[in-house]
Order: sequence, then structure tokens, then C-alpha cells
Amino acid sequence: MKIVETTNYQEMSEKAASFLINLVKEKPNATLGMATGGTPEGMYQLLIEDYKQNGTSYKEVTTFNLDEYIGLPKEDKNSYNSYMHQALFNFINIPESQIHLPNGMNADATKECEEYEKQISRNGGIDIQILGIGENGHIGFNEPGTSFDSKTHVITLTESTRIANSRYFNSLDEVPTKAVTMGISTIMQAKKIILLASGEKKADALYQLLHNEVDESFPASILQKHPNVTIIADRDALKNI
Ligand code: GLP
Repeated sequence: MKIVETTNYQEMSEKAASFLINLVKEKPNATLGMATGGTPEGMYQLLIEDYKQNGTSYKEVTTFNLDEYIGLPKEDKNSYNSYMHQALFNFINIPESQIHLPNGMNADATKECEEYEKQISRNGGIDIQILGIGENGHIGFNEPGTSFDSKTHVITLTESTRIANSRYFNSLDEVPTKAVTMGISTIMQAKKIILLASGEKKADALYQLLHNEVDESFPASILQKHPNVTIIADRDALKNI
């Protein structure tokens, strides 16, 4: 695993954006695995700036997001579909038909998961998967205890994840209790993984990611087994390493 230490959040975002921009320049039809949460927001902003200034084209790019809440229509401001459009997709030239997020409103969630997994395979897999990390070690929405063999599936969110994400909602009650997420094995099939982390509140999770035994009780520990992972994290997040 490669670790890139940055002085702060801005530099973390710049390094991450450069990775994606370089990939898209080398491989214009790249498939990008996207993440939500606060951490990648700065990186998305820089992709937009680069698009405006340098015209890096996303016309042939395909994206697959890690996860989506169950029960939020895609127009809901807290859906990850809305997040991605507001953070990035509305401002670059990617065709809507090449954007993929699970549909959290599909009445048949199991079918939705199977279909999503098939779409990723049919597409030939993911070139670069961006990941954040939950304080409890979750990646995507794969909470502690999720099988390392899991494919895209429905997950019940832990109370701590709902509390952490409640900052975007009016109240904790409004935070969905379930989500569709790429599974651990789906994530592990990505050719390259970039995990972003910023701030002291991620320091313990990063320590465990690198030093824990590889165990389902700490989902991100599986990344020790992936052949091509780069962690881009600021000094505060790496303070225990
Ligand atoms: C959510 C997302 C994860 C993300 C995590 C951390 O639960 N499903 O993909 O990595 O939050 O979010 P943040 O970057 O806001 O700390």
C-alpha cells in the first residue's frame, strides 16, 4: 500500500484530483468509481475547475458510485444521486447515460443490487475506485461484520454511521436506516483504489486500516490485500502512523 501524506485537506484534494485527471487523459473512456461524503468534495471541486480551465473531457467516461440510501428519491437533496450531480456531474461534460448509482427507490432492492453488479461487470470493471472511510472502518456502506465476499447488497446502517451522516439532514430520524452498497468483493475488484482521509477524527480508522489483522470486524482492513491501493491523507489523519 502506498501512502501519500499531505499537509492539509486542500493538498489531499489536489493530489487526488491529479490522479483522476491523469487517468482520464491517458484513458478517455475510463471507468471511475465515485464516493460521497464530505471528504471527496474538494477533489470534485478541483475536477470542475480543471474542466473549465483545461477542458479535460468526460464525454467517454463512465462512473459507478459506491452506494445510495434506500427510500430517498433521486431528487431528494440528501440522495447520493443529488450529491453527485451538485458536486460534479452538472458541471462537466459526462453524458447522463454513463452515470450509474444504485436506485434506492427500486421496490425490489435485491434485483437492483444484482443488476448493479452486472452493470459493473458488463462494463469491464472499475479502473480507479475512490474511497472515503467511516470512523468505524466502513468503506462504501459496508459496515463492520460485512462479509469480505459480499457483492452489491442491502445494508442496515449502524447507529454511529447514521449519527455521523445526520449532519446533512434536519434530524437523525430523517436519516435512512438502509442503503444499497457495492460489496467488499466488488470494491476489491477495482484495478486501483485511492482512499482519501482528512482530519484527526479519521486517525484511529487509518491506524486500524494499516495495522489491524485483516478481519471483517474492520472492513477497510481488507485493503491490505489489494495489489494497488494509494492512501492520500493529510497529516492529521496520519498522526498515529
Ligand atoms: C458515508 C459514505 C462513505 C464515506 C463515509 C465517510 O457513510 N457512504 O462512502 O466514506 O460516509 O464520510 P466523510 O467523508 O463525510 O467522513
